[in-house]
Amino acid sequence: MNASCPVAAAQLYGEFDGDAMPALYETLRREHGPVAPVTIAPGVSAWLVLGHRELLRLTREEQDFSHDPRHWSLLREGRVPADSPLLPMVGWRPALLFADGQQHRRMRSAVSDALARINGHELRRSVRAAAERLIASFAERRGADLVADYARLLPMRVIAELLGVDEETGQDLVAAIAGTVVADADSAGASRRMGSILTGLIREKRRAPGNDITSALLHHPAQLTDEEVLHNLVVMFVAGNQTTVNWIATTLRILLCDPGFRSSLTVGHLTVDDALDLVLWRFPPTQNFPARYATRELEFGGQRVRAGDMLILGLAAANADPGVLPDDGSPVVGNRSHLAFGAGPHTCPAQDPARLITRTAVDTIRHRLPDLELAVPESDLEWIKSPWSKGLAALPVRFTDPQLPSVPQSGDVR
Ligand code: HEM
Repeated sequence: MNASCPVAAAQLYGEFDGDAMPALYETLRREHGPVAPVTIAPGVSAWLVLGHRELLRLTREEQDFSHDPRHWSLLREGRVPADSPLLPMVGWRPALLFADGQQHRRMRSAVSDALARINGHELRRSVRAAAERLIASFAERRGADLVADYARLLPMRVIAELLGVDEETGQDLVAAIAGTVVADADSAGASRRMGSILTGLIREKRRAPGNDITSALLHHPAQLTDEEVLHNLVVMFVAGNQTTVNWIATTLRILLCDPGFRSSLTVGHLTVDDALDLVLWRFPPTQNFPARYATRELEFGGQRVRAGDMLILGLAAANADPGVLPDDGSPVVGNRSHLAFGAGPHTCPAQDPARLITRTAVDTIRHRLPDLELAVPESDLEWIKSPWSKGLAALPVRFTDPQLPSVPQSGDVR
């Protein structure tokens, strides 16, 4: 146990009831204020930052709050077991997500420039084509689980294409990265497979650059090493995949279940973008994000934080901070001051392409399956059991009259 955190810290691990999380955040806020002690694994303590203002400080003041896990005292003292499922998430890699200051800006400039080169029209076209192909694969069944059959498959295909990977290699890569993140007995093998796929990709793109993110990273003036390119690709894949899956599925849930939204959409009061924003406010796809590490002892949100303590970005809790919401507690339409994408120098650099992918995925379903409805009572829907990710476990739907394009789309995701 970290000496600076009280023993009775709330547990952010183990079996979870996703519906109970908002109440837990409010209990912690009431009992501890904007920065609360939690444990994230047996014997592993951290601070959960729940206040909107405190979260802005945590993300903006990197001289006090480093992104580099090598500052983490429990890790330095060997108190995090080598097989801890936390390590694949927070273990150091030579990538932008784990760097501060100059080193971060160098890698970030390459990643941001590579993302800025994405052509929005082409991206929309390839997302729509991939979405239509997925819809065609379950259309005859007149029903589907829009998580397993749609949301979970679409972003990984699109991101693989953006990175310049063909579909077959993309599927291998997805399986390898998923195996690495799970941290079980097979994770070492998965990590080797991931390394070998990405090393092959880098070799190929050095030899014959294409119009893709990998080539852009390799040929950027920031001169990333091949190892840095590899690890930044992993970060992009991991950061972009499950988040976008969650964003698509939760937005579809709102459109299906919220009668106000459904009728407003048809008469044009609210747009799909408003539904996307509502999800970012109420159900941010990453509800808690690890982490920052205090670089010195300091007073923060009423707590005495020690050098080397871990602090977790409580994105969902900060969005629900009564200090920033209107009196009735509802987010204002058109207001994007939520923290779903983080803030400060590490704020998500892929917000525009992620929104475009998600909006196109949602629009395509609405147009191709116009009489879509939930196949179970809404109360049967469950969140995945994770303290980090906020996404639906399943979204069973039915429909009678799919409107598929008569000619299959050839410009499919490669
Ligand atoms: C195409 C999809 C996406 C890609 C490629 C992507 C990529 C990234 C990358 C590279 C970073 C690290 C930035 C840095 O350290 O400077 C990052 C951070 C982050 N992203 Fe994304 N992302 C995607 C989608 C999303 C979505 C949909 C969300 C949630 C709505 C999200 C939320 C975040 C958050 C919370 C951070 C951490 C910010 C921090 O540490 O302060 N991302 N993303």
